[in-house]
Amino acid sequence: MPYSIVQVRSALDRLPRVRLGHLPTPLEPLPRLSAALGEVSVSIKRDDCTGLAMGGNKTRQLEFTLGEAVALGADCIVQGAGSQSNHCRQTAAACARLGLDCYLVLCRDDRAPGAGEVAQGNLLLDLLFGANIRWTEAPLGHAFEHEKTALAGELRARGRRPYVIGGDRGKLLGAAAYVNQMCETAQQLDGTYPDAMYVCAAGATHAGLLLGARLLGLPFPIRAMAPIVWDYDVPSAVAETANALSAELGLPLEQPIRPGDVGHSEECVGPGYGILTREALAAIELVARTEGILLDPCYTGKAMSGLIDHVRRGTVRPGSRVLFVHTGGTPALFTYARDLLEG
Ligand SMILES: Cc1ncc(COP(=O)(O)O)c(C=O)c1O
Repeated sequence: MPYSIVQVRSALDRLPRVRLGHLPTPLEPLPRLSAALGEVSVSIKRDDCTGLAMGGNKTRQLEFTLGEAVALGADCIVQGAGSQSNHCRQTAAACARLGLDCYLVLCRDDRAPGAGEVAQGNLLLDLLFGANIRWTEAPLGHAFEHEKTALAGELRARGRRPYVIGGDRGKLLGAAAYVNQMCETAQQLDGTYPDAMYVCAAGATHAGLLLGARLLGLPFPIRAMAPIVWDYDVPSAVAETANALSAELGLPLEQPIRPGDVGHSEECVGPGYGILTREALAAIELVARTEGILLDPCYTGKAMSGLIDHVRRGTVRPGSRVLFVHTGGTPALFTYARDLLEG
């Protein structure tokens, strides 16, 4: 028997949380995009409109991670990722809002400004929000997480009380936010379900949506288009996060989620993380020109290119209803001006 929305929400309410987002986000039809694609009906869940610092999925997740940080008495936050990280930008804004010092470890990747170049996109916003930035040459992954832990150690040695966002705990709390999002979505759908949900995700967001759908007994598959190819088994990791969260919430499933239940696809990544593909550019232009909605080059543009491809190949059958989750990321658009204009 599935759980009710009230049961799931009251389990989530036992986790510490700070309010950061403008929720619920709108769920809207996309009539002109649907017409352009043919006989499908596409709707969009506007998590780019979560409200904090230009929005995105991380606003929801920070409500839970920073909720825990505040409950534990942290006085500063350590987070880190690529130089154009949406998570870092929203963390910096949330810290400003909550009066916490924000320390960001940023990877000196291809999108980091070179000597004499000016900060743009998410990095520009990190600076405006007053984040303290430490650059590293370590690539994302194990070595990078070590840099975050080391910075937290230095802060502790100076008498600070840092909370590090990341690791298994960060994934579990991020997933809790997307269980909550699925409750919100189910309420908005009010029994009229899509045939499939498309989203750009390969971690906490996917785990939360999947667990939310399973807890509520929602009938549609979640097709998650990954923005990156990780060097670990993503379906196993997503299933593990979802099952751990189900246990933490005290909401057991009749059958645990198995890696084979995880609709993970790497088909839209292209040559690599953060590299704009021709298909993503076409998707960004199509959605901008039919609906006046901005997608981004790194995440949502790629996921939409997957949805468009599935419609064209018949994986999404004529007459289907599809729900696309917009996870944000639009500030990075400005760092891709050349790729966007020159194709
Ligand atoms: C805009 C956007 N979409 C999707 C994702 C993927 O989220 P997750 O790693 O929780 O699956 C991210 C993560 O950085 C993001 O910034």
